[in-house]
Amino acid sequence: MKIACLGGGPAGLYFAILMKKAFPTAEVVVHERNRAEDTFGFGVVFSDETLGNFELADEPTYREIRQLFRYWGDIETHLGDAVVRSTGHGFCGMSRKKLLQVFHRRALELGVDLRFESEVHDESQINADLIVVSDGINSALRTKHAAHFQPSLDWRKCKFTWLGTTLPMDAFTFWFERTEHGVFQVHAYPFEEGLGTFIVECTEDTWRKAGLDQADEAATLAFCERIFAHKLGGHRLVANRSIWRTFPTVRCGTWVKDRMVLIGDAAHTAHFSIGSGTKLAMEDAIALCEAFVRHGCDDVPATLRAYEEGRKVDVLKLQKAAQTSLEWFENSERYMDQDPVEFTFNLMTRSKRITYENLKKRDPELVRRATAHYALSRGGARVAAAEVPAFVPYQLRDMHLANRIVVSPMCQYSAVDGLPDDWHLVHLGSRAVGGAGLVITEATSASADGRITPGCTGIWTEAQAAAWTRIVRFVHQHSGSKIALQLGHAGRKASCSVPWEGDAPLTDARAWPTIGPSAEPFRAGWHTPKAMTRADMERVRADFVAAAQRAEQAGFDALEIHAAHGYLLSSFLSPLSNRRTDEYGGSLEGRMRYPLEVVRAVRAAWPTAKPLFVRISASDWLDSQGGFTCEEAVVFARELKHAEVDCIDVSSGGNSPLSRIDYGRMYQVPFADAIRHGAQIAVQCVGAVQGLDHANTVLAAGRADLVAMARPHLADPYLALHAAAEVGKYDMPWPKQYLAAKPRPKAGEPD
Ligand SMILES: Cc1cc2nc3c(=O)[nH]c(=O)nc-3n(C[C@H](O)[C@H](O)[C@H](O)COP(=O)(O)OP(=O)(O)OC[C@H]3O[C@@H](n4cnc5c(N)ncnc54)[C@H](O)[C@@H]3O)c2cc1C
Ligand SMILES: Cc1cc2nc3c(=O)[nH]c(=O)nc-3n(C[C@H](O)[C@H](O)[C@H](O)COP(=O)(O)O)c2cc1C
Repeated sequence: MKIACLGGGPAGLYFAILMKKAFPTAEVVVHERNRAEDTFGFGVVFSDETLGNFELADEPTYREIRQLFRYWGDIETHLGDAVVRSTGHGFCGMSRKKLLQVFHRRALELGVDLRFESEVHDESQINADLIVVSDGINSALRTKHAAHFQPSLDWRKCKFTWLGTTLPMDAFTFWFERTEHGVFQVHAYPFEEGLGTFIVECTEDTWRKAGLDQADEAATLAFCERIFAHKLGGHRLVANRSIWRTFPTVRCGTWVKDRMVLIGDAAHTAHFSIGSGTKLAMEDAIALCEAFVRHGCDDVPATLRAYEEGRKVDVLKLQKAAQTSLEWFENSERYMDQDPVEFTFNLMTRSKRITYENLKKRDPELVRRATAHYALSRGGARVAAAEVPAFVPYQLRDMHLANRIVVSPMCQYSAVDGLPDDWHLVHLGSRAVGGAGLVITEATSASADGRITPGCTGIWTEAQAAAWTRIVRFVHQHSGSKIALQLGHAGRKASCSVPWEGDAPLTDARAWPTIGPSAEPFRAGWHTPKAMTRADMERVRADFVAAAQRAEQAGFDALEIHAAHGYLLSSFLSPLSNRRTDEYGGSLEGRMRYPLEVVRAVRAAWPTAKPLFVRISASDWLDSQGGFTCEEAVVFARELKHAEVDCIDVSSGGNSPLSRIDYGRMYQVPFADAIRHGAQIAVQCVGAVQGLDHANTVLAAGRADLVAMARPHLADPYLALHAAAEVGKYDMPWPKQYLAAKPRPKAGEPD
């Protein structure tokens, strides 16, 4: 078998080594356009886990790497002059140049043909059974076959430059420095005696303000040495082709074309803030070689397809974590006023791979400090320093919540004529008994035509208000929870069947006419709504006000206006559903006008002592197709704050069937975070928050104030009580009828 690797970076060289070792009779050639001694960059960084993979793949290179690397277990965060050190992590760094030299030696020893100063732009130059395209981020062959590989290059918002430093370091080091131009952040780590990698990063705006768009390498070096002079203590920064760059996240539709395969940076990139691309490149090489060992060399295209199939998920996961991490760094300015410990916790948990509990295993002291800081800063001196964030009480106007766990609104589709009945009493009642700080009812309509289905609850009659009173009274009498009513109007998504009867528009006699901002159905085949006239708007607004008054009469502690998921108010906000040409459409100002009118009217009718929440869809997940964006959501949230709304419940999607939602754990938290910091208002997050660990992570990082869970509460109505027991919290209010089962401290454990 003849193998050609195009590009002698870590991916191409390591693959050549592994293949030559696995198939000694194979002819393996590496074409590298540079000379052996040329290399850019400084250090590369690996985690403990990655090193374990290298040991299994090729012990001799692993042993040499071990001798050369510098190991450290700590991460040090400098927020201005404050320094917080986190322990228990485990990384090592080594010189990229030395790593490549180790690979060169090992490749030659095994009989790989290394051809330097050999540039390849076309596969017709190569006679091989397998062509490994390992020519890096600007891959010539990927570009040539773009129609097949379907690469997408997502150019990110920050500017960065790769420098070195003589500053001695014994930890992975982050600096965040405010300057007159904006924030500059540094990712630095030691990789050999007297030398460390030093990446400087800032937003493009800051970069321009600092005049760095005009700076050559020498000016960049001088600038960076000047702004960090007080921290460098006389140590120098070193350049090596250190121009300012923009990071592209490279993704491809496929990595395989016949006998050709893309690996390393040619196939995909992951932002440097979660570890090096070198690790990813070498792990590709390991996986590709394993595919040949497992599937053989007879049918190269089939083996390449098997490689792609097996490797894709791991790369996707890593790219997802990298995306969350790079977005954190793009927005780090918003966290600069956080307390240094909270900031560090936030930084450590940014990519969601490390949570409160994971971090506790690595660094119990940091988590103890973050917990104590949260308890004191949010709960005051009366809250024990060891109280975990989710159990720190929360006050909104006169409503006191015993903890920050919220039962998210969930339609039960079980009402007749909008009347909540025994099902709703048991459903909401048991979740209140289950210990959540706040229980929110399902979407309850302000008028008969505003129901999503005939089974949805309402509050447009006195009888409905009375039925709700019974439920509210139960919650207040038998639990420590508070209860809020979610008040909405389904708009163009009304008049549907219940989910277990198809979840589709009604077509029988039960159907009713729907309304919306414009006469556009949610999707083909759905009801076409009537475009609302001014009279319709006034009628619906009056319905909301009357409903709010009935909610007050029923004794609800809080009210949540449903302006999410494509229902009436949500459909006014999004340009995809609001095509109006009057003052209620067009610009964001126009699209917000009606939802704000409703909110203001409800606020005026709702008691000042009681909080008002608004649930929004912070994004249509269709930014490039003109959907409602998170930036618009921040502006809307500011307006809601002016309208004296107390908390934004941040959800997303639901307004267009075309939305491409990037699901994953805590997937909507970045929107909540952006709104909390951008509009300076309390937020409730929701969406794949899977229990106490996630809740504590989000809260301690300062990304939300309340954490709502829907499906986890369907599975476990006593989620909060169980979560409390999990962390040894024994002072939860268990109902007196159930005290015999209440968890108690084990011998020797504090109660
Ligand atoms: C300026 C810069 C500095 C970096 N510094 C670091 C660092 O310090 N630490 C770190 O971990 N990561 C660093 N990275 C990222 C890292 O280089 C990559 O993620 C990693 O090296 C990927 O390995 P690779 O083998 O896929 O690609 P590369 O390392 O980019 O290797 C590709 C190789 O292909 C060669 N080549 C390109 N085109 C052709 C052609 N047509 N014919 C023949 N040869 C060709 C190139 O010369 C290069 O040697 C840096 C990236 C950049 C852009
Ligand atoms: C059965 C069910 C019914 C729901 N009904 C509502 C609702 O009435 N109002 C609302 O705003 N969201 C509703 N949602 C969305 C949830 O409140 C929540 O935002 C979503 O399920 C994501 O949270 P989770 O991952 O914790 O389930 C419903 C979700 C489920 C599973």
